[in-house]
Parts: sequence; structure tokens; C-alpha cells
Amino acid sequence: MSWAVEVHNLNVWYGDKHVIRNVSFRVPKNVVLAIMGPSGCGKSTLLRAMNRLLDLNPHARVEGQVKINGINIYGDNVDVTWVRRQFGMVFQIPNPFPHLSIYENVALGPKLNGLVRSKSELDELVKEALQKAYLWDEVKNDLKKPASMLSGGQQQRLCIARALALKPRIILMDEPTANLDPVAASKIEELLLELKEDYTIIIVTHNPQQAARVSDYVAFIYMGELIEIGETSTIFTRPTHVLTEKYVLGRMG
Ligand SMILES: Nc1ncnc2c1ncn2[C@@H]1O[C@H](COP(=O)(O)OP(=O)(O)O)[C@@H](O)[C@H]1O
Ligand SMILES: [Mg+2]
Repeated sequence: MSWAVEVHNLNVWYGDKHVIRNVSFRVPKNVVLAIMGPSGCGKSTLLRAMNRLLDLNPHARVEGQVKINGINIYGDNVDVTWVRRQFGMVFQIPNPFPHLSIYENVALGPKLNGLVRSKSELDELVKEALQKAYLWDEVKNDLKKPASMLSGGQQQRLCIARALALKPRIILMDEPTANLDPVAASKIEELLLELKEDYTIIIVTHNPQQAARVSDYVAFIYMGELIEIGETSTIFTRPTHVLTEKYVLGRMG
């Protein structure tokens, strides 16, 4: 089996605080993996270690391996730009460029990265990304309007379109619906089921119900340790660890 991502003995420290403790797991291609666990357990840190976003924090130290296509992204001679291009990232608070147009929010990355040669190619790429993010029909007549005119849920789908336009292999999402109303949240959940046909998706959530709804596999993290990982149906019906059981039954904060 070839894996989308393999994490081996990953450790992360902030200063001398050890926040990810010897975590190892593998993610098959074209699935949704939910990383769940209580607030502060290390979910965001784990996600940020996977695309070397922690490099930007001088107090963070990472040990261990994260492999994509068999290549350790922390290895010598690895191009960090290449690493980041493998991943799309979507954050908890939708962060489009508010003053740029809807069109430019999606077009900017491909332009800066030289992914397109003509205006018509760019138009097509923007349209395709907005369609894949279930946003095209709502915005096709407003492409020149600023992103700030969109609702929170639409802004988050715009951020997803922006990520897709860069043609990543893996999409990392850090609590992407935490700031959305239930209707907007469920649109994004629906979208995940379709996106996994083309991408591998890793979504962080502190909501076990959401993990149960959207994922094929679940990893349960507690105080920086990977307690359990497995198929979602198994984790929710027959967890092997008492901490996992408590968490999925909602008996833990
Ligand atoms: N930039 C940082 N500097 C120092 N400590 C941090 C930083 N970010 C997070 N932490 C700490 O690391 C631990 C894990 O945080 P985080 O990964 O954000 O957890 P989660 O996303 O599960 O809520 C927490 O104890 C948090 O306080
Ligand atoms: Mg977090």
C-alpha cells in the first residue's frame, strides 16, 4: 500500500514543553482522517508539524519524520517550498484577503507560483476551484466584489477554493467549522466527502460527532500522545482505550 502521509516518532517541543510525544501513524490516500481530542492536546501543533509550518516559530523544535510519497519532509536537501505545495491548509477562522476580489483570492496563488500561462487558463482554474469548493454558483456574478462581502461560511469555502487552486495532494483543516453556524458547517462537511475523491484530507476537530460524520479514520490525541487510531466505525463502537471511550461518549472536556 502506498500512503499519503507517514508520521514516524514525531516529537514537538515549545521551549522545554514537550507537546507532541512520539506520535506515529499512516494515512491512506483519498480518505478523510479526523484528528480529535480535547482543547490543548496538541492537534494544531501536529497539523503544523506536518507541513513544516512550525519552522516559522523559533521556539518550536521538531524531531522525527513526516513522509509524503516516501520523502521525509524534514530530511536534508528538502525544498520547503515543495513541501508546502503538497499541502493546502484551511484555518479555524476564515482568512481570505478581505480587500481582494473573490476572483483574486483564488487567482493570486497560481499567479505567484507561475502555474498558469494565460488569462483564459487562469479563469478556468479559478472557476474549477470555486466549483470544487461548492461556491461557484453563489459567486459567479460577483467575482470582482471583495471577499469581505461574503458570509463566514462562504469565506471558508473561498479559502478552500484558494487552497485547491494550488493543486495540493493533501488538505489540512484546523477546526474549519468551529466559527460557522450549523448550516454553513454542514455544507463544508458535505464538501469533504466529495473532495476526498481527489485529495487526502486531514481535519482537526474537537467535536467527536463531527469526526463520526465526516471521517473514514480517526486519531484520538490526548496530552500530546496518540492514544488510538483506526477506522471511524471501530473507534466509535469498540474503542480499545478507556480514554477514547470517555471522549467519544462526551464524558471528557
Ligand atoms: N506557539 C506556542 N508556543 C508555546 N506553546 C504553545 C504554542 N502553541 C500551542 N502551545 C501549547 O502547546 C499545547 C498544544 O497546543 P495546540 O497544538 O494548540 O492544541 P489544540 O490544537 O489541541 O488545542 C498547549 O499546551 C498549548 O498551550
Ligand atoms: Mg487547535
